[in-house]
Amino acid sequence: MMRISFLKLAASSAFLIAFIGIVCSAALADEPSIEAAAWLRYAPLDKNRVKLYDHLPQRTVVLSHSLILKTAQQELIRGITNMLGRTLTPTTAATPEGNSIVLATLPQLHKLSPELNPPEELKPDAFWITHVKIHGSECLLIIASNDRGVLYGVFDLLSQIARGQSIARIKEVQQPYAPLRWVNQWDNLDGRIERGYGGRSIFFDNGKIREDLTRAGEYARLLASIGINGCTVNNVNAAPTVLEDSFIAQLARIADAFRPWGVQLSLSVDFSSPKSVGGLDTFDPLDPRVAEWWRNKADAIYRQIPDFGGFLVKADSEGQSGPSAYGRSIADAANVLARALKPHGGYVFYRAFVYNHHLDWRNLKNDRAKAAYDNFHPLDGDFDDNVVVQIKNGPIDFQVREPASPLFAGLPHTNEAIELQITQEYTGQQRQLCFLVPMWKEVLDFDMRAGGSSTPVKDLVSGRVFHRPVGGFAGVANVGLDENWLGSPLAMANLYGFGRLAWNPDLTSEQVVDEWTRLTFGNDPLVVKTIDNLQLDSWHVYENYTGPLGAGTLTNITGNHYDPAPESSERNGWGQWHRADHEGIGMDRTIATGTGFIGQYPPEVQKLYESLATCPDNLLLFFHHVPYTHVLHSGKTVIQHIYDSHYEGAEQAAEYVTQWEKLKAHIDEGRYQDILPRFEYQAKEAIVWRDTICNWIYQLSGIPDQKGRVGKE
Ligand code: GCU
Repeated sequence: MMRISFLKLAASSAFLIAFIGIVCSAALADEPSIEAAAWLRYAPLDKNRVKLYDHLPQRTVVLSHSLILKTAQQELIRGITNMLGRTLTPTTAATPEGNSIVLATLPQLHKLSPELNPPEELKPDAFWITHVKIHGSECLLIIASNDRGVLYGVFDLLSQIARGQSIARIKEVQQPYAPLRWVNQWDNLDGRIERGYGGRSIFFDNGKIREDLTRAGEYARLLASIGINGCTVNNVNAAPTVLEDSFIAQLARIADAFRPWGVQLSLSVDFSSPKSVGGLDTFDPLDPRVAEWWRNKADAIYRQIPDFGGFLVKADSEGQSGPSAYGRSIADAANVLARALKPHGGYVFYRAFVYNHHLDWRNLKNDRAKAAYDNFHPLDGDFDDNVVVQIKNGPIDFQVREPASPLFAGLPHTNEAIELQITQEYTGQQRQLCFLVPMWKEVLDFDMRAGGSSTPVKDLVSGRVFHRPVGGFAGVANVGLDENWLGSPLAMANLYGFGRLAWNPDLTSEQVVDEWTRLTFGNDPLVVKTIDNLQLDSWHVYENYTGPLGAGTLTNITGNHYDPAPESSERNGWGQWHRADHEGIGMDRTIATGTGFIGQYPPEVQKLYESLATCPDNLLLFFHHVPYTHVLHSGKTVIQHIYDSHYEGAEQAAEYVTQWEKLKAHIDEGRYQDILPRFEYQAKEAIVWRDTICNWIYQLSGIPDQKGRVGKE
């Protein structure tokens, strides 16, 4: 049996009594509203469930003064107070009787009890939770290799309690899948958010940092609870002024709000900054004055924000300046930034979203999908070790269905991160339900067969396949000041799901949504089953009535990215073409007759997509141009599938209303009434989509719907 020297523990923790008192009173502070609390409600459990935790220790002790450990203890007390109606006693704790929840890093624990060791080595941010017996009474240890891991362990324990799971025999080690788990916010300094649907920026207003950063702190708490350790606070289309000295001083206040939660602040930077705000006459990355400017800038940032995470860069893309202005390579650009950050331990996330948006649409060989691989693959091996190439999940731009980007398999000597879009830019903008975890899972689990062996995308981006020092996940979140953060309470499942998959992409969609529903709405079986199913079906439903067979966007591409407008993506340089004409539809991306995009994949994947016989139906029109009469694996023709899926999708969306109505009196009236009209609205929008797309394709093809629904007055 494991034993711990509690006399030593008592001595070392006596000094903690004072601040534990402060911590305890903090637990009684005002709780946020039910919407703002999101999945951290800590709702009181019913009596039977409370009994499950009767044996939980009554005290808690931390073994150091650290800010994050203090936060962890405060959170633990808050959660237990709210859920179980009992207050963990601030204590000298380490009385010989034990009976404490001990929060400590492994080195701290070892000072007291070197014989205690987790069953496996703990990576940074990992945690170990286990029981030990002290003189016959239980202690619960939450141990990690660093402070942040302890905080994550506390959140995990509280989540289990909130979901009514027994922790009587808890014994677990959780390791993060990848070291870098960041969110990106596309916030402009004036307070608007690019592709944000949840209100104005929680950080910026009118060109300045907000006076009141309470929301920023609350956001960091939510992020920490799902294992997110970094947040880039400003738009990738970056204002150069973020790097002005006076602004950096203000940014330090956001970093202060993040720090108790172990969330590192980072910045999107404009590559022309040395010229635009630095007063140089160039931003050529190979000019020594430019390198020096970046070094000085990084030094200045770290003086004010010692735990600064690094820079995110969008360059030579959609009008942003970049190294091409001087004929320099992307690696030259990334490395000049990386070298400035290196002495401080910072990273450069360089976005692979580099493409020409003035492509000639008349040339059938042109293909925007090829851009990321064409630009980055030849540079593999040229990037410094603290550069991470941030790659959107698909080769185009967050469409409702895309194949995994071939670039994931094309950078064996470069760190990678996958970029996923939490904000639903092309998937209903939070006005329509679209739970994206199943889509992300398909990409993360997709086997790229790099080198002919099993190499799922999750193992490529985490750095496991090619033994990279780092790798990870970036999620474009875009929360705002709205009480419910994203503009819709149900959309928060996507933020939750992003964090959970970044922590552990082996979780199933079912597990993720079930956790989220229970934490957000409680454990009533009808509520859990109904909301889980609504969420789990929603991506397919949305795809059914908006984006059939991988055709890509049929939405208003030059405007709001929301309404149906299938012709808007054609005959312009943006390259989001579906190439529908009178005969057929789809982009021919084959090696044999098309743009050759398929040739960017490893051979086994090429084979899968190149042949009509093996290409999956749901990506058919992404890879092939086929006549409307082409027969799918399902046995239907393409045109009939398009009609049917739109009618089916609209019917499924209408069902949401009926499903939701069953929950009346099972959830709080406020959220019930808030969400009901959203589903009523979605049902109508699905009909608008159905009719627009079906009529359009009927006009184009002249082929009637076998079921007689389309083309009638
Ligand atoms: C999309 C989006 C833009 C964004 C861009 C990006 O194109 O519509 O608003 O700036 O992606 O990811 O950089």
